Amino acid sequence: MRAKLVVGNWKMNLTRPEAASCVEALVKQIDSYEDVEVGLCPSYLSIPVVGNLLQGKSILLGAQDVFWAGSGAFTGQVSPSMLKEVGVQICIVGHSEPRGRFGKLEIPESTISYFGETDQTVNLKLKALLYHGIVPILCVGETLAEREAGKTDSVIQDQLAGALDGIDAAEFIAGVVAYEPVWAIGTGKTCDTEEASRVCGMIRTHLAKLLDQDAADSIRVLYGGSVKAANAKELFRAPDIDGGLVGGASLNPEEFVQVIRAAH
Ligand code: PGA
Repeated sequence: MRAKLVVGNWKMNLTRPEAASCVEALVKQIDSYEDVEVGLCPSYLSIPVVGNLLQGKSILLGAQDVFWAGSGAFTGQVSPSMLKEVGVQICIVGHSEPRGRFGKLEIPESTISYFGETDQTVNLKLKALLYHGIVPILCVGETLAEREAGKTDSVIQDQLAGALDGIDAAEFIAGVVAYEPVWAIGTGKTCDTEEASRVCGMIRTHLAKLLDQDAADSIRVLYGGSVKAANAKELFRAPDIDGGLVGGASLNPEEFVQVIRAAH
């Protein structure tokens, strides 16, 4: 039986004092469930503050991204050992935003190449995280245009194959995959439960092909994209959805607590 996992992705929100108040409010209200794990991914700068407040609590400390090299001339990057040193346990990789695939924001063509994540860089980051014992949350998902062209499954299968190239079942067995349809991120449009569950099931079947059945049965497959208190219960009840990666709703402790309760 896979325990549910609910992870807050704070993206580029909350200053350090705001992050601290959010965690304080959250830990006051949160119940601890044996069948639900919770994680928080603040900005790099807030990780130490959040980590201090989570000392002795069962909430997992996370990061939103990482670079693959150990150290060196990589201005602006943060290495896996730097994350490890501040106590990071989980890390998002391959989110659609660093891939330059946005659900709502209009990014001008001239700056989109700034968001240059590819399946190859995701693969390098995954390997680096696994080497350092940080649990990766690998994000995959289709844009609206890809969905309308009937390419949802093939896009996701290609993302999984690219990300997991050269990684074996034993290495990724504790890993997490998040299905995040790009068109549902930050837009208020949730993928309907039946379709989200179908895609999460398809991801598990494909993981069995790329890795093996044992790994596929153990890996948590989350849904992300406008998860909130109002829809979390229905989504998390689906047999193939093992929890959620939650953006906007995780910034509000009252709302996020409701989402966590819904996973219990
Ligand atoms: P959202 O973001 O919940 O605000 O749609 C989810 C995510 O991008 O991880």
